[in-house]
Amino acid sequence: MAARWEILADIINDRGFKQVAEIGIATGATTSYLLNLCPQLERYVAVDVYLGHIRVMEKEHPNLDLLEMDSVQAAQQIEDGSLDLVFIDADHAYESVMADIIAWLHKVRPGGVICGHDYWQGHPHPLPAVDGVKEAVDKVFVAHHRSCYTQHICDTSVHKNCYVWITNI
Ligand SMILES: C[S@@+](CC[C@H](N)C(=O)[O-])C[C@H]1O[C@@H](n2cnc3c(N)ncnc32)[C@H](O)[C@@H]1O
Repeated sequence: MAARWEILADIINDRGFKQVAEIGIATGATTSYLLNLCPQLERYVAVDVYLGHIRVMEKEHPNLDLLEMDSVQAAQQIEDGSLDLVFIDADHAYESVMADIIAWLHKVRPGGVICGHDYWQGHPHPLPAVDGVKEAVDKVFVAHHRSCYTQHICDTSVHKNCYVWITNI
């Protein structure tokens, strides 16, 4: 088991990924770790309706590209097939996760990865809205027999039944 940013950093560094987007930033915990753990990143697109917490990182990380807006609107600013990895972690309700997957899937180039946080298995999540992640991911990927695997995370105790979902494009 590893924290979500360790799982992501391993994928990014092992595959030499250089163009990454994180959808949903909050205080920037994952953003900060990845910018520091993955020095080869050329562009890190950070999307959130509020990015005030991470504006201070801009000076130290000129590769940080801030899109302070709704995630589906932000996707319209990104060229199709231009990203190596997209990490979806914004609104966890079923409709929102579905909208994010649809909006961002084609931004990933063949050979890249689309993935996300809070794929909850085993027990219901204490916040029912989070169950939308598994429902949407299963509907888009698993039901269509596209490769989708999960990796257990341990970044906080509340995440003990929680996984990162990962799909190779
Ligand atoms: C779970 S937090 C992100 C945590 C972060 N990825 C991490 O690993 O530390 C979810 C974030 O998604 C943002 N968010 C929710 N809905 C959004 C939307 N439609 N567009 C953009 N950001 C959104 C919220 O403002 C919040 O900061």
